[in-house]
Amino acid sequence: MAISTQPTEGRWSSRWLFVLAAAGSAVGLGNIWKFPYIAGENGGGAFVLIYLVCVAFVGAPIMISEVLLGRKGRASPINVMRSLARQAGASARWSFVGWMGVLAGILILSYYAVIAGWALNYVWLTASGTFNAASAQVATSTFDQLQQDPVQMVAWHSLFILITIWIVARGVSRGLETAIRWFMPLLFVLLLVLLGYSASSGGFAQGWAFMFDFNWDVVGPETWLIAMGQAFFTLSLGMGTMMAYGAYVPDDSNIGSTVLTIVALDTFVAVAAGLAIFPLVFVNGLEVGQGPGLMFVTLPLAFGQLPMGAVFGTVFFVLVSFAAITSAISLTEPAIAFVVEEYNAQRSRVAISLGVFCWLLGLGTVFSFNIWADAKPLFGLNFFELVDQLSQNIMLPLGGLLIALFAVWVLPQNIVREQLEVRSDGVMLLWRIVGGIVAPLGVAAVFVYTLLPLFTG
Ligand code: PHE
Repeated sequence: MAISTQPTEGRWSSRWLFVLAAAGSAVGLGNIWKFPYIAGENGGGAFVLIYLVCVAFVGAPIMISEVLLGRKGRASPINVMRSLARQAGASARWSFVGWMGVLAGILILSYYAVIAGWALNYVWLTASGTFNAASAQVATSTFDQLQQDPVQMVAWHSLFILITIWIVARGVSRGLETAIRWFMPLLFVLLLVLLGYSASSGGFAQGWAFMFDFNWDVVGPETWLIAMGQAFFTLSLGMGTMMAYGAYVPDDSNIGSTVLTIVALDTFVAVAAGLAIFPLVFVNGLEVGQGPGLMFVTLPLAFGQLPMGAVFGTVFFVLVSFAAITSAISLTEPAIAFVVEEYNAQRSRVAISLGVFCWLLGLGTVFSFNIWADAKPLFGLNFFELVDQLSQNIMLPLGGLLIALFAVWVLPQNIVREQLEVRSDGVMLLWRIVGGIVAPLGVAAVFVYTLLPLFTG
């Protein structure tokens, strides 16, 4: 039987656990794998600055919207949108945002697990000394071989899904909180260790200059759009993850300052990952604009040339694996919370079913790198590219756009005042301008930009 407005009973045991959980969701492959390579491809400093602007003016207000909606509605995103829309006298069709989020979470997890599986494999490869004094050719062919081997890729993909689902099945406090309590502090420690290592490598000044010297020549309109898409993905926005996690936030936590802390942590990790990676790349005279191979080819090669490289390389990939796991568990929360509350289902069963489904879907991504590499069913894209584009470039921006519009223009603003504990009218005006106008316009720009080429060829 459906009990659609049954309030969620789970709560984070403290405000700090929410901060860690949300930061755990935000900090992932997006920060450590993607951010450095996109920054590398887009010329460094100027890109970093533009990215920071997007995080502040689009990311932060949308995250505030998601968390406040979640805490007010105290349910899974689908039911939050439905019940708050009703309360506001608007159409219950707003629950579409929640449904799209559930689907986006499933699609993203299916390929996220494949790439995270590579990271798991690299823990093993670096630890066993594969890259010790290796040539560029060895580093390149190791990565190529992995991508060409569906059996290996499926094995690591399966392992990653198993770990994720095992944690998720144990529930919010026994599963999520326990994993987060261990993984997040460790992640920060490992990151600081790596920063220290890279600072002493001899390439730090060059790495620093690359990240923070503005070279405006390389900036075009496209740079803004790439930075905006990255801000979205890295902050886990637009698919209800932060709404689902927001539903478990205790009543006495201040949402504004909590969100700013999460955004700051996520940004710190992205920048620190860049500062850990680029000096190693420079000191070895390697190429920063490598693209997706930066973390899987260039970096292992760099570690292989350095003293204690195998040890620190292993540390690095353990760090990436932890970061990916805490993000992956958050991708499942909107779907799992919904099925559990709607059908009173057992959480572990729902988690296992979802895991099997994402695993199957992930096979499509695995095969996109080998046996299906040439199959391009739509828009000249293979299966992986389609799933990636659809979820990241269409569903997340659309979801974020609708969430911001809903929170500012549909939801009664006395609810926002009460949830955000805002007293001043000036702050409310700022909220309306940034959350209701600047952020949606920014997102709409990305949206149009990514959709147009699909239809105009
Ligand atoms: N933010 C995660 C990362 O940077 C990915 C993610 C996106 C997680 C959307 C949850 C929801 O890797």
